[in-house]
Parts: sequence; C-alpha cells; structure tokens
Amino acid sequence: MTLGTALHEIMQKFVSKQAPHQTATCEIAADNGWALKIACDLTGLPGLCIRSLSDGDAPLLQVFGTKLGPVSKDLFCPYPWHEPNALPGAFQEAVRKTTARVDASYVIESAHHGVIGHFFLWKAGGNPHSRPYQIEVPELGVAIADDCQGRGLGGLSVRILQAVARDLRADAIELTTAFGNQAGWNTYRQCGFEYLGDINTPLGVDVTAALAGGVAAASYRVERQMAYVIREENRERVLSYLAEKRKTAPA
Ligand SMILES: CC(C)(COP(=O)(O)OP(=O)(O)OC[C@H]1O[C@@H](n2cnc3c(N)ncnc32)[C@H](O)[C@@H]1OP(=O)(O)O)[C@@H](O)C(=O)NCCC(=O)NCCS
Repeated sequence: MTLGTALHEIMQKFVSKQAPHQTATCEIAADNGWALKIACDLTGLPGLCIRSLSDGDAPLLQVFGTKLGPVSKDLFCPYPWHEPNALPGAFQEAVRKTTARVDASYVIESAHHGVIGHFFLWKAGGNPHSRPYQIEVPELGVAIADDCQGRGLGGLSVRILQAVARDLRADAIELTTAFGNQAGWNTYRQCGFEYLGDINTPLGVDVTAALAGGVAAASYRVERQMAYVIREENRERVLSYLAEKRKTAPA
C-alpha cells in the first residue's frame, strides 16, 4: 500500500469518528514521509492542515510551546522548556534535522487556532544506535495543544507516524511515556503499542544520544518503554535492542 493510500484510510476513519454526520474531503499530498501535507475541512476544526515541518518553522514551534501548559510540557519534553535562552536554538535544530531528513517532523494547524499539534519520528532517516542490530527503530513524540486535546488528534498523529515509518521500511517504533500519563497510555495502546518495561529516560534532549553518552541531560525520569513492531520477522532483534537500551540506561 502506498503512503498516500494509507493516509487516505487513516483520514477517512478520523473523519467518520470525529464528524460522523459530515462529508469531508481531505486533500493529501505525500509522495513520501519527508514532504507530507494533508488538508481537511471539518465543522469543529475548519482549515485543518497537517504538514511536514519546513524552513522558517522554528518560530511556529515557539508558538506551539505557548499552547502547552506546565503539565503537558512536563509530559512532552523533547525541548528544554525551562531554558528560554536555549529554546530558539533547539527549535532551529529540530527544523534543520527535518529538512536534512534525519527526523520526520510535523505540525498540525487549524484556521481558528493556528498551530495545535506537533509530532515526530526521531531518526526516521536512520538510527545509528539500532543499526548494529540490523534494524531501524525511530522514536516517536507527540503533543496536542491543551485546548485541543481529547478530539482525536493525538491518535491521528500516531497513526500517521505509523504509516510514515512503514513507508520508510522501519522495523519498529519506540517511545517512552511517563507513569500516570493516562491520555498518552490510552493513545498508544489504542494504536497497537506494546509495553516492554521501564527505562530511566533523559529529559529535554535527544533520548538515544543521551543514553549513548553523546549529549548531557540535566534530569532523568523512569518512564514506560513501549514499541510498535512493524516487521514481525525482525521482532526478536527489536526486543533485544530495546532490552539492551533499558539495561544500559543510567540507574
Ligand atoms: C497524549 C496526547 C498526545 C493524546 O492526544 P489527544 O488528542 O488528547 O488524544 P485523542 O483524543 O486522540 O485520544 C486518544 C485515546 O486516548 C484517550 N484519552 C484522551 N485523553 C484522555 C485522558 N485525559 N484520560 C484518559 N484517556 C484519554 C481517548 O479516549 C482515546 O481513546 P479511545 O479511542 O479509546 O477513545 C495529548 O493528550 C497530549 O498532547 N498530552 C500532553 C503531552 C503528552 O502527554 N504527550 C505524550 C508524551 S509521551
């Protein structure tokens, strides 16, 4: 199945659940996961646009940060929220890594609310840490603006990332989520993620790079490690890689 076809099916299911009495057409342009654009008009979310991050989007990520309250920021921390001076550089780096096809990263915008979501697969272009196991395992992150949570957008984002990862021939997707994050847990379980164990996770930085000693994290938190296996024939390698990652994480 092509990425475009997979995204059509995902959007159809989303529209029929969120707007069952509406006939909404979605325009999808997605030759690949690096240049994706979905436009859709729903009564509750007019002018919905889901698209790849592109040059000039760093200020948009800054705005998105203002749409997350302290609880959401604590749960979603790929950026150093508590270091205002470091934030612009971190957003620039996120855009650079997307345009360089290191990470596949997206934003959700709506005509009424502006930017309302941000989600990504770190190392979608290749994960040097999983490669020794002869597998590709990108890492998932997602956040929806506080005012727009609980409307299906988080689940939609995860399903889009699963389709992108499949299209990029990834073997699995990994994520970690804090204990007590019920919305995150339910979202991931609904999308088929398995709970593998607990891992001490660095916050505010690239998780795998920090675990490998490449960057320093100011703080750590024990979180649940979850995975979605795409290529079942490589399940054992995926589980070995992720078990080793749990074992070598700092105590
Ligand atoms: C986690 C998050 C991305 C989920 O996105 P969302 O748009 O709010 O969730 P959805 O509306 O798509 O719901 C997905 C599932 O989670 C469930 N859910 C949503 N909010 C919930 C809540 N507060 N408590 C319990 N379950 C919840 C929904 O019922 C749905 O399951 P269902 O299909 O069985 O009904 C979003 O809440 C968020 O951004 N939270 C703050 C940042 C964060 O935690 N990011 C993830 C870090 S690991």
